[in-house]
Amino acid sequence: MEKKKATIRTFLKMKENGEKIVQLTAYDAIFARLAEAAGVDQILVGDSLGNTFLGYRDTTPVTMDDMIHHCRAVRRGAPNTFIIGDMPFLSYQLDLETTLRNAARFMQEADCDCVKLETTRAELPVIRRLVEVGIPVMAHIGLRPQTVKVAGGYRIAGKSEEAAAELRQLALDVQDAGAFAVVLECIPGELARQISESLTIPTIGIGAGIGCDGQVQVLTDVLGLSEFTPRHAKPYAGIGQTVREALAAYADEVRHQTFPTDANTF
Ligand code: KIV
Repeated sequence: MEKKKATIRTFLKMKENGEKIVQLTAYDAIFARLAEAAGVDQILVGDSLGNTFLGYRDTTPVTMDDMIHHCRAVRRGAPNTFIIGDMPFLSYQLDLETTLRNAARFMQEADCDCVKLETTRAELPVIRRLVEVGIPVMAHIGLRPQTVKVAGGYRIAGKSEEAAAELRQLALDVQDAGAFAVVLECIPGELARQISESLTIPTIGIGAGIGCDGQVQVLTDVLGLSEFTPRHAKPYAGIGQTVREALAAYADEVRHQTFPTDANTF
């Protein structure tokens, strides 16, 4: 039976009912198809595309064209899953018109269901305007990987009482601006729980503990494909090792002329 596509109302209902939301990143049609078959609730085409499949050190080189290309592939692989297009570095900070055009590309060219943007107070009017024109927005607060160069690395956010209070307020403000959900990245578990309890919209945690309304993880971390697994992640398979072994076996058989055999020959 074909899966019924979720909407933002589905996720608000899930929060009301205490059902956890499962979000996973994907960047191409093959893994999107597998994620849909596994029943994940939301696929995030994250700008983590940059530091995973594109081989950059961080997310800042990722362009709008990169994102649209990969979102389109993910949509082809997962036609019935809620897909989030991640707005890349500088695609939503220049001016409102450029932001609207870029967000519209995710919806019109790649058939995404919403956009996500790393959020500070400066983005509140942006969220308001996007929602006003009909583009659902997932906010993203706490650690913001697009500012890694200014922060001098990936640092846990909201550790001091002052920083925690700012995040508590920002979460309420993104909800007020019209975001339908908010990612909480790398903040203390107790703070994430308080924020989740204070909001009517769902929180999606990564490195923010069990008290969030859902979790997101990066595909390559979950599969054991990353060179380095961050503390907040858990590899559920060792695909990197499996692939290395399979490719080495293939190379070995070609070199020793044990592949192809008659069975592989026309
Ligand atoms: O790009 C991404 O994968 C993300 C998640 C870490 C939330 O933004």
